[in-house]
Amino acid sequence: MIDPLGLLLPALVIGGAAALLWWLLIASEGVYLGRRVVIWLYDLYAARYDGIKGYRLEHEHQYLSQPLMEQIAPLTDPLVLDVATGTGRMPLALLRHGRFEGRVIASDLSELMLRRAADKLAGSPRAVCVVTPAERLPFPDSAFDVVTCLEALEFMTRREPVLAELMRVLRPGGLLLITNRINTRLMPGKLYSSDDLVAQFAELDADTVYIERWQVDYDLVWVKKTAEL
Ligand SMILES: C[S@@+](CC[C@H](N)C(=O)[O-])C[C@H]1O[C@@H](n2cnc3c(N)ncnc32)[C@H](O)[C@@H]1O
Repeated sequence: MIDPLGLLLPALVIGGAAALLWWLLIASEGVYLGRRVVIWLYDLYAARYDGIKGYRLEHEHQYLSQPLMEQIAPLTDPLVLDVATGTGRMPLALLRHGRFEGRVIASDLSELMLRRAADKLAGSPRAVCVVTPAERLPFPDSAFDVVTCLEALEFMTRREPVLAELMRVLRPGGLLLITNRINTRLMPGKLYSSDDLVAQFAELDADTVYIERWQVDYDLVWVKKTAEL
C-alpha cells in the first residue's frame, strides 16, 4: 500500500524547490544571483524579447521619444547614451522621430540582446552599439547631452554605482531619463521611493528631479544635471 503521508514530504520539497527556482530565475530575472546570471538570462531570452514585450511604434513615439524631444527642445541634435538598451528600444524610437537629428550610443552587457539592437539599427550612421556593464561606462565625464536607462536598474545588483555612473557621463545641464520600478511585489529590497531617489540624486549634482507615473510597473524619472556656474 502507498502511504499518502510518505509522498507528501517529497512532493512538498520538489514543489518548494520548483517555486524557488521560478522566483529566482523568472520572477526576479536572476537579480538575487548576481550580474552574470542576469546577463545569461537576457542572452537566453534575446531572440524572444521583442515578442514578449510587444512594443508598438506609436506608443514608443507617444510615451518615449516625443516627451524626451519636448524636454530637450530647442536642441534637436543631442548626443544620447542609452544604457541597458536591450534590443534597441530607445535608439529606435529616437531615430524614427521626425525632429531627432542627433546620434545615439546603445550599450548593454548582454551581447545577444545588443546584437538584436545592432540588426535593427544597421543602416543608420547615427547609431553605434557598445558592449559594456552599466557599472563602468567606457566614456569620459560629461560626454553626453542625454543619458537614458529604461526598465533595467532593478536588475542591477546595486543601483547606487550605476546612478553615479549615468550622472558622471552626462554633461552639466544635460538630461537623464530613467525608469523606477514601482511594482516590486516579487522583488523584495528593490523598491526605491521617490524620496530615496530625490535624496540620491541630490548627492549627484542633480538640479531638478521630476517623477511621473508612466506604466503600471514603472515611474519615469527626469533628472536635470546642474549646469556649470
Ligand atoms: C528589461 S531589459 C530593458 C531593455 C530596454 N532598455 C527596454 O526598455 O526594452 C533590461 C536590460 O538590462 C541589461 N542589463 C542588466 N544588467 C546590466 C548591467 N549590469 N550592465 C548593462 N546592462 C545590463 C540586460 O542585458 C537587458 O538588456
